[in-house]
Amino acid sequence: MRLCFATNNVKKLGEIRALLDRSIQLVSLADIGCHEELPETQNTLEGNSQQKARYVYQNYQTNCFADDTGLEVFSLDGEPGVYSARYAGVPKDDGANMDLLLKKMKADTDRMAQFRTVITLIIDREEWQFEGIVKGRILEKGRGSQGFGYDPIFQPLGYSQSFAQMDMGKKNSISHRGIAVNKLVKHLLGFST
Ligand code: IMP
Repeated sequence: MRLCFATNNVKKLGEIRALLDRSIQLVSLADIGCHEELPETQNTLEGNSQQKARYVYQNYQTNCFADDTGLEVFSLDGEPGVYSARYAGVPKDDGANMDLLLKKMKADTDRMAQFRTVITLIIDREEWQFEGIVKGRILEKGRGSQGFGYDPIFQPLGYSQSFAQMDMGKKNSISHRGIAVNKLVKHLLGFST
């Protein structure tokens, strides 16, 4: 089966490809000739991942899946959530996003938060969603230089390091995206047997 991952992020693609059976041929947006920006105008992670997957399925007639991720801070009623990428405005700036979040949380003693990923899969018009969550706390100050986004200020529960202090393998083994991807892969392997 040919399946498009609605991304041009080569790293994300390679990670999932390594987990799949050879009977599933995983291709990127560029591989199917899609070079435009995918629409992401919904106000939930579920809505955005579905919107991106449906766009690809309807315009390119290709079985596919898309992901969307957000950081949800409990004391801020789930902010920045679906707006995580551009929390401090356009253009996207990871440093400015973290600064804004830390400023808003300055007086907060409740530092609990979670990363949440939602993946929407469409095969022959049928849709499924897979969710991955990792809970943790927002540090008062960034630590570490690996990863991306909010990694320096997010410390997963049960660990003494921030995500940015972990190597990629360790982060992937416990991360929101890792959990959602594992659910997706388990489901896809059912199709390939
Ligand atoms: P996307 O949906 O994967 O593009 O993620 C949206 C935004 O959430 C990113 O631009 C980052 O700011 C943030 N984000 C997503 N995943 C992670 C992560 O694993 N670590 C830190 N920040 C993340």
